[in-house]
Amino acid sequence: MTSDAGRSRPFGLDLTREFADLPFDGHLERRLSALGGQFLDQSAYARLIAEDPLVYEVYEIHLPRTAGQLLHGISIVHPGRVGDEYFMTKGHFHAVRETAELYHCLRGRGLLLMENEEGDCAAEELAAGRVVHVPVGWAHRSINTHEHEDLVTFFAYPGHAGHDYGTIERQGFRKVVVARGGRAEILDNPRWRAGR
Ligand code: F6R
Ligand code: MN
Repeated sequence: MTSDAGRSRPFGLDLTREFADLPFDGHLERRLSALGGQFLDQSAYARLIAEDPLVYEVYEIHLPRTAGQLLHGISIVHPGRVGDEYFMTKGHFHAVRETAELYHCLRGRGLLLMENEEGDCAAEELAAGRVVHVPVGWAHRSINTHEHEDLVTFFAYPGHAGHDYGTIERQGFRKVVVARGGRAEILDNPRWRAGR
């Protein structure tokens, strides 16, 4: 599937078209079962897991995972909730902490939740046309806060970044985003514990 040679020539993508029709090299689907332990409401999670809904998808261009490359693709978080908590990505730090990332929101509405290892937290709005910069050292998770539309973002990050999912799998994010009276609210995560 990966053709580094094919991608050594310039190419362009028309992101106004249906993504399934575009020449991406890879397509990853993540269902609810991939997010075990991340949602607050464990009984809502247990009820939903029987149908194991599709939570998000990633379309990727395959390029060498080496310094100097710019890995990029499209992330689509579907609408939905587990209890009051919105559908979201697993979230991760980059294995090489000194690597940043850019997100450009194409459609939908949501938040890019971020935190660093010093304990600083941030949430930047995602809406069509907004670009969010994830600085070096910040974990990031996209959250779809719309009731029925997909959250679609274009992302780009350095080829040697790698992914550290384990830290977030163990300790979660310090903040959670929940629906309260039809609005998204950012609350402290009561289940967060350092180094868990
Ligand atoms: C890459 C990146 C995005 C995410 C995608 C899915 O470094 O941040 O491409 O990989 O939004 O989220 P995760 O990787 O957290 O499952
Ligand atoms: Mn990333």
